[in-house]
Amino acid sequence: MAADKPRGCFISSGRAILMTLLVCVVIIAVALIVFFSTTSAQNGLDHGKGDYSGSLVHTTDSCQYDPIVPAQWLHRKLGQIRDADNDDCMRILDAGTYMDGHDLYLKGHIPNALFYNTSQCLFDPQGRVGDLPDEECFQEYIRLLGISRNTHVVVYDRYLNIVASRIWWTLRLFGHNKVSIVDGGMSAWTRLGYNTSLYSPRVKKTEFRIKHNPSLLVDFDDMTAIVKEKTAQVVDSRDPKEFTGETTTPGYKTGHMPGAINVPLKEVLDTDDTIKPPGELKQIFADRGVDLTQPIVSTCRTGVYSTTLTAIFFSLGVDNVASYDGSWQDWSRRATDDMITTG
Ligand SMILES: *[C@@H]1O[C@H](CO)[C@@H](O)[C@H](O)[C@H]1NC(C)=O
Ligand SMILES: *[C@@H]1O[C@H](CO)[C@@H](O)[C@H](O)[C@H]1NC(C)=O
Repeated sequence: MAADKPRGCFISSGRAILMTLLVCVVIIAVALIVFFSTTSAQNGLDHGKGDYSGSLVHTTDSCQYDPIVPAQWLHRKLGQIRDADNDDCMRILDAGTYMDGHDLYLKGHIPNALFYNTSQCLFDPQGRVGDLPDEECFQEYIRLLGISRNTHVVVYDRYLNIVASRIWWTLRLFGHNKVSIVDGGMSAWTRLGYNTSLYSPRVKKTEFRIKHNPSLLVDFDDMTAIVKEKTAQVVDSRDPKEFTGETTTPGYKTGHMPGAINVPLKEVLDTDDTIKPPGELKQIFADRGVDLTQPIVSTCRTGVYSTTLTAIFFSLGVDNVASYDGSWQDWSRRATDDMITTG
């Protein structure tokens, strides 16, 4: 008799067949709903909808978040945050201006943004945005900003996004790759007519741990070897006249590293301070002779603008890129004369 026992969907009696069919249909329907909602949730996760696609670039080792995201994308994302105080999926940071900018933050910022104080954790109290922070202190500061391993940090500023780029680079240097820069920063946000807010979320401290990513950083010795052996292309984002040595900057020798390629920051920015579209950027780099398939080191005057170039290269899918943190400030003081050229 055991053999005639109904099993699964196969059953003999009339009413039971009907019941079982119904159960099977329900199971299949549920399975289909689950399948489609997971796929669409995945698609919606970071691609947003409509005019923006490609927020997640999958590489072999990890998921990489787009270095640059449009303000429209952030605006849509904000609509999904229900409880800003307890949200550690996304942390929006207002990096102010090159010199502080906390007063501007207090007058209104992108909703849910916290102020990021670039003077925090610098070794030198008179330090600049372009100095690397003390590691222990930085780790503690990141924790206090409620950033955990899983948090997508979205940073903007009110100064051509160069401060934001510097934070983008510093976070990646310390092992946090889930970080994006809002294209055009605060000016793009207000130009689009989006609301600002006076509220600062009360975030919870995390257990964030820094993890070094030395591939993003080049120091003086590395740079000397690179210039001598031509193991990477040096892309310098300074003003053309500063690059050629036509204008002088007090305290600096004039000129550039032999073999360096000049791509001034203003050439990669549109008139509204947003970053030019990928097609135009690729053309600009091609015209200047930058080969995006080969290693690149970006440099500038103080190590800040260069991080914008690094972010732009990453946004083009080029990640064999490092920033020379000391930049011309370091090079012009330490390099021998044969390592500096003009014209
Ligand atoms: C930013 O950090 C510096 C250095 O710790 C501090 O002196 C300054 O008051 C801070 N600014 C704000 C707005 O908290
Ligand atoms: C902007 O703020 C006003 C007033 O609080 C509100 O009515 C409006 O819906 C907000 N607009 C957007 C796009 O959030």
